[in-house]
Amino acid sequence: MSRIVVVSNRVPVPQGNAGQAGGLAVALLGLMQRRGGLWFGWSGAVAEGQAGPSMVQRGGVGYATIDLTEAEHRGFYTGYSNGVLWPMLHGLPHLMSFRRQDLDIYRRVNRRFADALVPMLRRDDRIWVHDYHLLSLPGALRQRGVLGPTGFYLHVPFPAPEAAAVAPGIRGLVQDVLASDLLGFQTAMDRDNFAASAIGFAGAVRTGEDRLELGGRPVRLGVFPAEIAAPEFAATAAAQQAAEPVRLLAQSLRGQALLLGVDRLDPTKGLPERLEAFRRVAARRTARSLTMLQIAAPSREDVVAYRRLRQEIDAAAGAINSEFGEPDWLPLRLLARPQTRDMVAGFMRLARVGLVTPIRDGMNLVAKEYVAAQDPADPGVLVLSRFAGAAAQLSSALLVNPHDAEGMAEAICTALDMPLAERRARWQDAWAAIAETSPERWGETFLRALAPEDLERLPVAGTA
Ligand code: G6P
Repeated sequence: MSRIVVVSNRVPVPQGNAGQAGGLAVALLGLMQRRGGLWFGWSGAVAEGQAGPSMVQRGGVGYATIDLTEAEHRGFYTGYSNGVLWPMLHGLPHLMSFRRQDLDIYRRVNRRFADALVPMLRRDDRIWVHDYHLLSLPGALRQRGVLGPTGFYLHVPFPAPEAAAVAPGIRGLVQDVLASDLLGFQTAMDRDNFAASAIGFAGAVRTGEDRLELGGRPVRLGVFPAEIAAPEFAATAAAQQAAEPVRLLAQSLRGQALLLGVDRLDPTKGLPERLEAFRRVAARRTARSLTMLQIAAPSREDVVAYRRLRQEIDAAAGAINSEFGEPDWLPLRLLARPQTRDMVAGFMRLARVGLVTPIRDGMNLVAKEYVAAQDPADPGVLVLSRFAGAAAQLSSALLVNPHDAEGMAEAICTALDMPLAERRARWQDAWAAIAETSPERWGETFLRALAPEDLERLPVAGTA
């Protein structure tokens, strides 16, 4: 069987300091643990000197990581990946902050990843590159003679070509990523937007819904929505009801309806807009009838837009509490700290309303987790941005436009007042959309599309 080589910026090294299990890592970890393989990327550490990879072997998975230098971290991670590509890909060009040297460093770090990875590769490996940090890597691997099946998956959205074009350097990066055999996206819209950029920026020709041609070479496209392990998450949410933090939260509510938001503290998540909607809800409802808990885990604090956002939501939360609070009650609890996944699962099951209202989001697995966490006999209601990839699958949620504060406030009130029969019917539809699949199946589907199983039976012709 051919080996799977995953390359991503974050690597969930066991007990390592890079183990911030974001959506990407959680989705891939189970698959890798079951299949074995090599996982290569950034260690999460910043250190001077460009030493070769450190290896950790756990079960069948080898984790190989390199440190970034201070200058690489600033230019590649903070500067170009998160200061230019992330806002552009999410349609927030006013948040871009471009410096020419950051683009150079981004490309150089991609080449450094390729230089470190190539000596570890075997000829029959299936290589799977992840996300916007590594758009240049497929091209860099081909330049170094890597011929094997190479796939790329974009976890975030891809905008229309005129919106993509605002990021200096994007044309070259689109060309680089087209060196892949297969490109995967969260939604059909992301696939089609990317295809339009491949045509406009790189001269590709679209030869079918799932196919481009570039210089006579086929490049396949596919839609692979990221999934969660819904039954497992449901079991965790139920079991957590007995855990102390969940019991304490339940007690503190004293019968009030709980509204819950769980996000990274990120400008794409629509947090100021959500707080404005909640302010309007608080103005309409009686004191002590509801409580909102917003968990906002700090993220990318070296990027200016993220620091400003923290100040903005601290101020907005303070204003809501000072306007509507009572001596014995505050409507909003804002925690700018991450909480454990298990605890969050328990909180979700307590919440009458789940608020997932990003300005733009590739998928948003929190939306799927909220559905999975509900008690089927008495489920809560998901209020979901129509600009999250999840909206394509969870159409029974209350879909909102995060730019319309009044519309969101109305949807939240509808959710709070929704009769049990309607809550059940909507929840059952949503559950049916997520229950039968899993992150493993998502990964297997991508890998099968990348290279047919037949390839696994070919004799191994030489190893590196
Ligand atoms: C999103 C991206 C991931 C990223 C994660 C956490 O889910 O798609 O690639 O790892 O956010 O962000 P961070 O900057 O902490 O890695």
